[in-house]
Amino acid sequence: MTSLAFQLNVPNLPKNISFSGLSKSELALFKLHEKEEQLLPKQVSAVRKSQFTLGRAVANRALAQLGFSPPPPLLSGPNREPLWPENIVGSISHSHGFAVSVAAFKSNYRALGIDLERIKSARRYDIAPRICTEHELEWVNGSSTDREVRLTSLFSAKESLFKAIFPLFQQYFWYRDVTLAWDNSSNSFKTTSQLPSNLPRMVTDALPIEVKLYLDAEYVLTMCAF
Ligand SMILES: CC(C)(COP(=O)(O)OP(=O)(O)OC[C@H]1O[C@@H](n2cnc3c(N)ncnc32)[C@H](O)[C@@H]1OP(=O)(O)O)[C@@H](O)C(=O)NCCC(=O)NCCS
Repeated sequence: MTSLAFQLNVPNLPKNISFSGLSKSELALFKLHEKEEQLLPKQVSAVRKSQFTLGRAVANRALAQLGFSPPPPLLSGPNREPLWPENIVGSISHSHGFAVSVAAFKSNYRALGIDLERIKSARRYDIAPRICTEHELEWVNGSSTDREVRLTSLFSAKESLFKAIFPLFQQYFWYRDVTLAWDNSSNSFKTTSQLPSNLPRMVTDALPIEVKLYLDAEYVLTMCAF
């Protein structure tokens, strides 16, 4: 991500979404709020602390861009989900020294999910059967040159979808509980009829849900907004 593409300008970002991206080297001026610091276990590793801090820094910037001055501390729920201010939805992802965050007013979106994955550390192909359903596996295998990029993109899209839906659903669901179909014309994945049962109305009313893919030379970024 030396291209800075995701930090500065994600093309065709959906409207009314505040996006922020940062690298570890730009973190110097940010300090965790005391209440955020308390979310970390005492024996936390340096890597996790740095990742968590970077995530809070981008979330803080995304909230500041929406007019929060200063943004409140961003606490976490029992399943690690960020607890955004009352009228806000948002999401955070970190990967290899970078973090990204999106936030928006609930009056514009019911849910947001974001995920960043480095392509160089593309998922080893042998995990594909744990991530993909049958139709997805066909799509992944449809390219002999790009199948690890496709697998990483699909994996990331499923993480974005999960992060968007979990705060509304409060239940875990797994990679093979969902089938996503690739839509070349919109550069996005779309949900199909295979979905977890008992999804709340706020989710079913929005079906099919789209997860946008932004491909950089080094990174896959996906975003789910509905
Ligand atoms: C949470 C998860 C989606 C991503 O976590 P990760 O691998 O650490 O990757 P990322 O850096 O991209 O995202 C981490 C951030 O996601 C957010 N997050 C974690 N759990 C979350 C949840 N339950 N709901 C919404 N957001 C969540 C947090 O902000 C977290 O960062 P933080 O702990 O520093 O605040 C993943 O680990 C997980 O639990 N997956 C199982 C469920 C799933 O993905 N199912 C797929 C269904 S198709």
